[in-house]
Amino acid sequence: MRSASAYAPGRVELLGNHTDYNHGVVLAAAIDRGLTVTGTSRGDRSIKFTASSPPAQVEISLDELTPQTAQRWANYPFGVVQQFLRAGYELRGFEAEVTGDVPAGAGLSSSAAFEVATAGFLMKLHDLWIDPLAVAKLCRRAENEFVGVQSGLLDQATSVFGRADYLVHLDFQTDTIETVAFPANFALVIADSGKKHNLLQSQYNTRREECAAAVKALGAASLREISPEQLDRSRATLDPVLFRRAAHIVGENSRVWQAVEALRTSDAEAIGALMNASHESSRTNFENSTPELDHLVEAARTLPGVLGSRLTGGGFGGGTVTLVHAGQADAVAQQLRVSHSPAAFVCRIADGAAVGW
Ligand code: GLA
Repeated sequence: MRSASAYAPGRVELLGNHTDYNHGVVLAAAIDRGLTVTGTSRGDRSIKFTASSPPAQVEISLDELTPQTAQRWANYPFGVVQQFLRAGYELRGFEAEVTGDVPAGAGLSSSAAFEVATAGFLMKLHDLWIDPLAVAKLCRRAENEFVGVQSGLLDQATSVFGRADYLVHLDFQTDTIETVAFPANFALVIADSGKKHNLLQSQYNTRREECAAAVKALGAASLREISPEQLDRSRATLDPVLFRRAAHIVGENSRVWQAVEALRTSDAEAIGALMNASHESSRTNFENSTPELDHLVEAARTLPGVLGSRLTGGGFGGGTVTLVHAGQADAVAQQLRVSHSPAAFVCRIADGAAVGW
């Protein structure tokens, strides 16, 4: 009998919306909320996951892993277990419990936190060491193949590579991951719109297909290759919906590069303006905002100390991230709690899971 426990944080996406599966760039951060998977091995080939809120339990044999339709939450850890088996790791049966405080459906990647914590748990339980980028990729495959969401690598990579007080700058053309200091004296406030997003039921996969169609129509290898000027030249010929989808991605990549420059001089005002522009592009070009998210960012922008506000993550519900002067962060979170978002909070930028492996 052996016991193990592993933690992985949720993440917040600061700029670079839907760019990850378009070979683009993102600025994100691991947050101080996460999930822990704790458990003990057993003598047979059964695996059992228990969740406490809401209470639920699923048991399955390592030899009969199939996606669950009634208890979909279990597909995240089961998908990771399946990927370990496919990679040739020999696993034994176990009982595990998931606990934590990343709200589900708030755009903070509770799913990636669950996948990465499961991977860490399996590694510890079986004395395995796997390269952290390979772990992130394995968890993404679990989400693509077992859960059925064609997501990119952003969530898992940020959950693995986050660093306290630093933003993670991810480049999905080269899979390069760097950290950039978050400006001192500023803070992030996260607010849930109250409308849960569910990437499986949302238009996430449709957006991915539309981006692929735009790439094809533009004759490019990816939207990463397209400059704003090039895209503009296609305005008259490209299908208008595909044009707007592509404009979002091309604009987001450009905003990430501008923000990386602005971070060098701690120009938080510039980053806030880029966040506002990002939300506007989500609203009009990518159409992955909702009236609730729009109200939330508008309300945040009227508050003292706020530099910018946008939706974070996949969209179609979920939450927002707001850049604030640190001294006013508590007051902003408090105001948003009263007006729009009972669970709004000031988030601390935290270490990723790999720090604990
Ligand atoms: C979700 C997906 C990510 C990414 C974001 C949008 O969080 O899981 O892969 O595409 O949406 O940037």
